[in-house]
Amino acid sequence: MQKFKYYQPKVLQDAFELMAEYQGRAQYVAGGTDVMVRVNQRVIQPDALISLRGLDALTGISPDEEMTMGSMTLFRDIERTPAFTRDYRALAQAVSVLANPQVRNVATIGGNLCNGAPSADCAPPLMVMEAELTLEGPEGARKVPIQAFFKGPGQNCMVPSEIMTGITLPAMRKGTGSAFLKTGRVFQDIAVVNAAALVVMDGNTCQVCRLSVGAVAPTPLRLTHIETLVEGEKITPDLLDEAARSAQKAVAPITDVRSTEAYRRQISGVLIKRALEAAVKDARQEKGALQIQVPADTASQTNVKTMEIEDNESATKKEIHFVLNGHAVSVEVESHKTLLRLLRDILGFKGTKEGCGQGECGACTVLVDGVSVDSCLYPAFEVGGKSVTTIEGLLGEGNTLDPLQTAFVEHGGVQCGFCTPGMIMSAKALLNENPEPTEAEIRKGISGNLCRCTGYVQIVESIKEAVSKE
Ligand code: FES
Ligand code: FES
Repeated sequence: MQKFKYYQPKVLQDAFELMAEYQGRAQYVAGGTDVMVRVNQRVIQPDALISLRGLDALTGISPDEEMTMGSMTLFRDIERTPAFTRDYRALAQAVSVLANPQVRNVATIGGNLCNGAPSADCAPPLMVMEAELTLEGPEGARKVPIQAFFKGPGQNCMVPSEIMTGITLPAMRKGTGSAFLKTGRVFQDIAVVNAAALVVMDGNTCQVCRLSVGAVAPTPLRLTHIETLVEGEKITPDLLDEAARSAQKAVAPITDVRSTEAYRRQISGVLIKRALEAAVKDARQEKGALQIQVPADTASQTNVKTMEIEDNESATKKEIHFVLNGHAVSVEVESHKTLLRLLRDILGFKGTKEGCGQGECGACTVLVDGVSVDSCLYPAFEVGGKSVTTIEGLLGEGNTLDPLQTAFVEHGGVQCGFCTPGMIMSAKALLNENPEPTEAEIRKGISGNLCRCTGYVQIVESIKEAVSKE
């Protein structure tokens, strides 16, 4: 793996100075689910990564009159914050189907936007909510409406030293409804097309309409001319069909590995029509509007030991202290190592497997402070002060198996066994949070784990069995 220094500044000014010092050869990193993939694939080869995780200025959710949140707000936190699921439903819906649990546990809303992907699932909801972004650099802070942020695939209006620090959403008026829809090759895949709608209804008349569609142009699009068409009108089947036809004309999709230009164009209209219908239902709070289940916030309830994070004395190698499977560990590690490499190569915990190395297969899943993460994307420096649990940590006294392990053995949940440790750790994270999941919740809980032997039926049965025995 390519070597790089890893900095963990505690204040914004230090981050700006580091970026200036490296003159374009450093990269800010938020949750790392995109940057670490590109580093692993050598798409980018920075001399240094500057972590934003330690910057308190980028954290916090304030659902006051308007909603403000730090750019480092995790998707898992948006999923679990009632203010989002109650008032900003399109965003909560987008987050709940974005990638998989391991990614949502570490990925941030700011990172999702800064990547500049035309398919970014957060973009359409934030566009229809008319979010305002706060960007800060050495010269000070500026506010940018989200519509002015995206400049092309992978491009945005930020200068290299700037950091997105916050996102502000206006208060939602009475009568507001919103919805997000997405289509992909498989559930939780990168979007083939995504779309969001927001309406303010006065009886049957739409007072305000906001529409956005993604993955069908170089940037996420606002469909202002269709909004004008809808505003002041009653929502009728004919109007919905007209909105769909107009959306199909407005987009400029491409053919790529995920879809064809023609399919994307067709489905853009379908999603805009359906999102508009769902937003109207949401405004009326009709049965049938998209419902979101709010997972309980158990991260803060998880009984884990934590330690003070030491100062970052070295950006190339340092001794980190953390808790591994209940035992305090101190180990020297190089800055470019991932948690996966630390566990397997340095500490000898081989139960955690490496499959794809890019956050796709979940074979490397472990728990960090009680939540599942892909250890192949998790910088080793970041586990300082945290608690890590691997498959080896599930054994009880006298090496007794965890009920999940027993159920996998007894119900054929193991074939070649390569995916099994990651699969069980994802199931463990799910059951920690939700001790009695439905089958749908089990399937969603392990959606970040692939089984090459395709033994999903037995795996789900094993988890159901473990649930029944708890
Ligand atoms: Fe980490 Fe595949 S997700 S190895
Ligand atoms: Fe073989 Fe899942 S049991 S990959």
